[in-house]
Amino acid sequence: MHVVIVGSGPSGLVLSLLLSKAGIKVTLLDAGSTVDDRPRAAHYAPSAIRVLREAGVLDDVRKEGFIPRDFTWRKRDGSKVASIMDTVESRGPDGLTVLPLNMLGQVLLAHAMKKANIEIKWNHTVTSVGQDDTSVWAEAKLKDGTVVKTTGDYLCGCDGANSEVRKSLFGDVFEGKTWDAQIVATNVYYPLHDFGFSDINNIIHPEDYYMAAIISKDGMWRVSYGEDPSFTIEQVRANQPIKFERMLPGNPKPSDYKITNVGPYRIHQRCAESFRVGKITLAADAAHLVNPFGGMGLTGGIVDVGGLAECLIGIEKGLANDDILDKYSEIRIQKWKDYINPISSDNFLRVSATDPENPFEKDELLRLVKSMEDDETGEIKKSFDESVYDICHDFKQYYN
Ligand SMILES: Cc1cc2nc3c(=O)[nH]c(=O)nc-3n(C[C@H](O)[C@H](O)[C@H](O)COP(=O)(O)OP(=O)(O)OC[C@H]3O[C@@H](n4cnc5c(N)ncnc54)[C@H](O)[C@@H]3O)c2cc1C
Ligand SMILES: *[C@@H]1O[C@H](CO)[C@@H](O)[C@H](O)[C@H]1NC(C)=O
Repeated sequence: MHVVIVGSGPSGLVLSLLLSKAGIKVTLLDAGSTVDDRPRAAHYAPSAIRVLREAGVLDDVRKEGFIPRDFTWRKRDGSKVASIMDTVESRGPDGLTVLPLNMLGQVLLAHAMKKANIEIKWNHTVTSVGQDDTSVWAEAKLKDGTVVKTTGDYLCGCDGANSEVRKSLFGDVFEGKTWDAQIVATNVYYPLHDFGFSDINNIIHPEDYYMAAIISKDGMWRVSYGEDPSFTIEQVRANQPIKFERMLPGNPKPSDYKITNVGPYRIHQRCAESFRVGKITLAADAAHLVNPFGGMGLTGGIVDVGGLAECLIGIEKGLANDDILDKYSEIRIQKWKDYINPISSDNFLRVSATDPENPFEKDELLRLVKSMEDDETGEIKKSFDESVYDICHDFKQYYN
């Protein structure tokens, strides 16, 4: 079997490693000249950690990254609302792990380059895909305008939010909504631990809501905050020092911190109508988008490719036929609708639309976390930890 994957982002690379391990030949086509180095996602939940282990990269991910200790919701004055402690101990070997996406990409790329059955073609911008009864293909444009056709048995679109593969299947239809909000992701060196902050913090406030998490061993923090959606990038940059001084503990001036990146972006909740048309499938951001609060986006995407790999490997081994790809589509969409979409929406509303003076009144999760703090038996925490696997699904159960 030969699988063509469009996009060498994190989802495409993880899928290629899983397939390669089962002896399947993979060709990756990517428009860029190497892995994207923009700072984006950084947190991978236990459900995704299992897939990274299966792909053979977890040890290296853990060597570069680390497991955060505590997660706290706070008011803008820094005072604690509720906190989850000991994320390491209770989540055992699958503990949530932090590694900035660009660094994860480097780890994945280094592994993929060592595999004889993975070929990565950079500078290949896919412009269309097609299929007939026996094969599937992608047409890519090179920088000099030449068009190259790559043919295989199956094709997966892992080409991100603006997926060309999705557009070739469904045009501009991508059901869902765009929030009336703008999020600014910044990377900054500022010692938030000195102000009593946890490794991950969510600050609840109608205008100055933000997420602050330490994301590198050398003390870099990701601070992602809400900004006026009408602001241009210039206005965002001009307002950033004012926001930081008002919302961060210690009310820092620009000379008090070192900021290395300011990246504004819009946020969405969207899902494609199907993740399969014939021998073409969609996964991760190409298939669905969520806002970044709670880190459900790429975690969900990595879990997708874990499931898709099980389906394709089943077909390769003669243990399943193409119908298993319908299961892939149906179940991954259902998981998005039942868990990923509502949980990520609630995560965003919890920080941006909850009364910080009355946080428990309407918010079930905060009440649960509070009850965990007081529960000496540890039973509530245990069932909470188990619920993080709700988005997983074992596709091997459909093997003959
Ligand atoms: C600014 C920003 C900040 C973010 N912050 C967070 C965060 O804090 N937390 C979080 O959980 N998530 C965050 N995200 C989302 C997260 O980064 C994505 O969920 C994740 O990158 C999705 O991985 P992917 O492999 O599906 O797609 P991508 O990482 O987008 O990779 C897609 C790949 O496909 C390639 N490609 C695209 N089109 C074509 C084409 N036509 N032909 C060939 N190749 C193509 C691209 O070059 C790229 O390499 C952020 C996203 C952005 C943009
Ligand atoms: C891709 O294009 C860039 C120039 O934009 C070039 O530097 C690089 O060598 C190319 N990569 C490959 C693998 O051809």
